[in-house]
Amino acid sequence: MEVVIQARGEQIAALVADAIERLLADKPDAVLGLATGSSPLQVYDELVRRHEDGRISFARARAFLLDEYVGLPSDHPERYGTVIARAFTSRVDFPEGAVHGPDGTAEDIPAACAAYEDAIAAAGGIDLQLLGIGSDGHIAFNEPGSSLASRTRIKTLTRQTRADNARFFGGDVDAVPRHCLTQGLGTIMSARHLVLLATGNAKAEAIHQLVEGPVSAMWPATVMQHHPHATVLLDEAAASRLQ
Ligand code: F6R
Repeated sequence: MEVVIQARGEQIAALVADAIERLLADKPDAVLGLATGSSPLQVYDELVRRHEDGRISFARARAFLLDEYVGLPSDHPERYGTVIARAFTSRVDFPEGAVHGPDGTAEDIPAACAAYEDAIAAAGGIDLQLLGIGSDGHIAFNEPGSSLASRTRIKTLTRQTRADNARFFGGDVDAVPRHCLTQGLGTIMSARHLVLLATGNAKAEAIHQLVEGPVSAMWPATVMQHHPHATVLLDEAAASRLQ
């Protein structure tokens, strides 16, 4: 695992955008794995800038989201499908239908999860997966105790994650859904390059565990230690508990 520490978020965003720009230059129909949440927002802004400058096109690319809340109506502004469109995908030139997410409104949840796995496989797998990390060490919504081999499935969000995400729901933790569909740790590990971003003190313990702790389902991100091509980009606050 490669760990890169930068002073400023913009530097992290530029490095990640460089990796995506290189990937798309080599493989214009690359498959990107996209994360929601605050961590990748500067990356998305940088990619939009490069797209507007004519440096990057997503016209042949495809994208898959990590996760989606269960039970939010399809027009809810915090649905991850809507959030990612607002933050990134509708600001660049992805073709219609190229951006996929798990269906959190499905009646048959296991079938929707299996269909999502099939869609990723049919696209040829994910070339570059962007990841944030929860303060409890989750990646996607694989909360502590998740199987390291898990595939896309329904999960219950922890109290900690719902409290962390209440800021997107007017500060009301009760408005945060209790369940989500999430790519599993095994799904994430199948991506060819993992790129995890973390900034701020709140992530310092999770980053310490990710980089220096034993691999454990109790700190799900630690599974990345087994990935042959994983890059972790940090600011100094997120790196502050590294030895
Ligand atoms: C979002 C996701 C989550 C977030 C994590 C960190 O799609 O899968 O794992 O990456 O909760 O969230 P932020 O970046 O908001 O601190």
